[in-house]
Amino acid sequence: MKVMETERLTLRWLTPEDTEFIFDLLNDPTWIRFIGDRGINTLQDARNYIITGPMEMYAKLGFGLFLTELKDGHIPIGICGLIKREGLEDVDIGFAFLSRYQSKGYAYEAASATMKYASEELGLRRVVAITSKDNDASSRLLERIGMSFEEYVTLPNDKEELKLYRYGDSPPVE
Ligand SMILES: CC(C)(COP(=O)(O)OP(=O)(O)OC[C@H]1O[C@@H](n2cnc3c(N)ncnc32)[C@H](O)[C@@H]1OP(=O)(O)O)[C@@H](O)C(=O)NCCC(=O)NCCS
Repeated sequence: MKVMETERLTLRWLTPEDTEFIFDLLNDPTWIRFIGDRGINTLQDARNYIITGPMEMYAKLGFGLFLTELKDGHIPIGICGLIKREGLEDVDIGFAFLSRYQSKGYAYEAASATMKYASEELGLRRVVAITSKDNDASSRLLERIGMSFEEYVTLPNDKEELKLYRYGDSPPVE
């Protein structure tokens, strides 16, 4: 299902047909370095990730991480979307692109459309983001789409302290 379009990109639901792309993305050196090794060693692992991750979230919440592809040629280049995760009260924005499609403004284009979608289509009043302290490209992107650093947080079952960003000046919803 197509979710949104930008000038150069289409964001749509992931399906099991995207298995090879997800295998490549989750093994991209920048994913491994900044997000972590998800142990996607076979195509079956990649397929399970799609089914039990994003697809389960679409079914439960109506949103999730979307496949981002170039309109020109329908070439998948990354994922961008919204996540509801255990340990964070608010929905957060997430994104990752194959190395060869980074630093071309695609992530900005997808992330800004996703923030607009979150507020205009889903009516979310507050969206957050989490990122590793040393992920400068991610922090730069979050600031460019209008988010501000709020505090350091640690998610359940994790040791790493992460940076939490929030959209706009909205305080936590009571
Ligand atoms: C985080 C991530 C998505 C950021 O993506 P990105 O490629 O840096 O972001 P953009 O595509 O918007 O590119 C921005 C850069 O391209 C430049 N650029 C080139 N052409 C551009 C264009 N047409 N429009 C806008 N910017 C353009 C910008 O000047 C900017 O440069 P800068 O980073 O030196 O300031 C990417 O680094 C990534 O996928 N990392 C691995 C996964 C990850 O860490 N995810 C985040 C987890 S929290």
